[in-house]
Amino acid sequence: MEIIKCRDYDAMSIRAAQIFEEVVNAKPDCVLGLATGSTPLGLYKKLIEDHKAGKIDFSRCTSVNLDEYVGLGENDDQSYRYFMNTNLFDHINIDKAKTFVPNGLESDAYRACRDYEDILEKVGPQDIQVLGLGENGHIAFNEPETYFPKETHCVDLTESTIEANARFFENPDKVPRHAYSMGIGSIFRAKKIILLASGVKKSRALAEALYGPIIPQLPASILQLHSDVVVVCDDAALK
Ligand code: GLP
Repeated sequence: MEIIKCRDYDAMSIRAAQIFEEVVNAKPDCVLGLATGSTPLGLYKKLIEDHKAGKIDFSRCTSVNLDEYVGLGENDDQSYRYFMNTNLFDHINIDKAKTFVPNGLESDAYRACRDYEDILEKVGPQDIQVLGLGENGHIAFNEPETYFPKETHCVDLTESTIEANARFFENPDKVPRHAYSMGIGSIFRAKKIILLASGVKKSRALAEALYGPIIPQLPASILQLHSDVVVVCDDAALK
């Protein structure tokens, strides 16, 4: 595991974008594994800037996202599909038909998860996967558990995640209670993983993920076992 500690959020985002661009420029038809949340916003902003400056071309890329809230569709401004469209896809030259997010409007959880695993299988492994970090150590929506879920699955969100994500909703009651999320196995297929963490709120989870025991109660700790993980974080997240 390589750890790159940056001065602040902006420096972290710029460094992450460089790593990302190396992958895309080396393999123009690569598969991008993308994440939502506030942490990767700076990275996406930089990718948009660099795309507009002609430094990166997404026309042959495919993307797969980590997760989606159950019950929310692309027209819902809190869905992760909406987030990806407005914060990245609408501003770059990726073919939207080749961007995949679990289908939050599929109420049959078994079918939603199986369909997403089929897509992951079909498009092939992510050449690079971006991950944020939950305050409780979750990655995607793999919440602290007694086991590591392998495939895409339906998650009961924990109270702490509902509380942490409530800031994006009108009121906490509107935060969905369930999500479809890639499992640890789906994430581990990625050839390269960038874990982003910024701010003091992430420092406990990050320290445990990097140096603690590998346990499903701290899902990000499993990343210690992946062969190519780059942690790009800021000073506040890594004391
Ligand atoms: C959500 C997402 C995660 C993300 C996490 C952290 O729960 N499902 O993929 O990493 O939030 O979000 P933030 O970056 O806003 O702190």
